[in-house]
Amino acid sequence: MILYFSATGNTEFLATELAKKTGDQCLNLLERIKNKDYSEIYSEKPFVICAPVYVCEMPRFFSDYIKKVPLKGCRDIYFIVNSAGYGGISGYLAKKAARHKKLRFMGYNEIVMPRNYFISHYPVQTKDEIRERLVNACEKVNEIADKIKKGEKLQSRYIFLFEKIITIPFNPVWSKYKMTAKAFYAADSCIGCGKCARVCPLNNIIIKDKKPVWGDKCTHCMACIGNCPKDAIFYGNVTSEKGKYNFRDYKYMLGDNQSAPVKNKEYQRRKNG
Ligand SMILES: Cc1cc2nc3c(=O)[nH]c(=O)nc-3n(C[C@H](O)[C@H](O)[C@H](O)COP(=O)(O)O)c2cc1C
Ligand code: SF4
Ligand code: SF4
Repeated sequence: MILYFSATGNTEFLATELAKKTGDQCLNLLERIKNKDYSEIYSEKPFVICAPVYVCEMPRFFSDYIKKVPLKGCRDIYFIVNSAGYGGISGYLAKKAARHKKLRFMGYNEIVMPRNYFISHYPVQTKDEIRERLVNACEKVNEIADKIKKGEKLQSRYIFLFEKIITIPFNPVWSKYKMTAKAFYAADSCIGCGKCARVCPLNNIIIKDKKPVWGDKCTHCMACIGNCPKDAIFYGNVTSEKGKYNFRDYKYMLGDNQSAPVKNKEYQRRKNG
């Protein structure tokens, strides 16, 4: 059973591809997380936990959920995280979570995906960079799926002591002072559909007088801004220049058959006829 959370579609894509390739089921945990639904999840196949990386680890609300929810049936658990390039100490924490749940840790892998954190100081990636990442990610998914199907362990990246020393105290400080929703606002093009509130994992948005109002529990996941059907959400003046990210807008780069992506040049050649 593939269990995942995804704010802007990257993890959802990887999780559904993994499910297809391993012949397993996929479960989006968003509603369960929002509703604090800790009812047991049963699977005869290994549990595969898929998550994005936030500030060098899996999102804390997600790790907390995984720790609490009873996972019954198969005793094997894999962790697959995806990031914009640095998964930090996710692997170390994944192993700890497996131990906490008394499940057999089958390894952890990182996949590099396009960066969805448009409000950070990083420049927006070019289309070529995004395409390259998506194509490489598909190859990595194939490798991971093969190993999971064979019941093999994944080779986890070694996490150095200095990474733990820096990240463990850094994450909560950064989250507290940097991850606030104060700069979010909705422009006049907002139609009051409520999607931003529905996709927020922390229930940090309410719709008042047909407009979103942000609370003080934000984790900067980018789900609200990335999923607004009217592109009506902005963050200060950063996003009017940089835009927003959603995997949906780049899916076409993988061509028609996502299970067999083609490399850049080949893709261009085919596209240009
Ligand atoms: C709040 C936040 C923090 C992030 N921190 C990191 C990070 O520490 N390292 C990194 O490589 N990518 C980081 N990213 C990028 C995401 O992990 C990456 O784009 C991921 O694919 C998004 O997945 P999703 O589309 O399923 O939400 C961060 C993104 C967000 C929103
Ligand atoms: S998702 Fe966009 S259009 Fe819908 S309520 Fe939120 S801001 Fe408005
Ligand atoms: S309000 Fe914050 S936590 Fe909620 S969807 Fe938006 S960015 Fe994510």
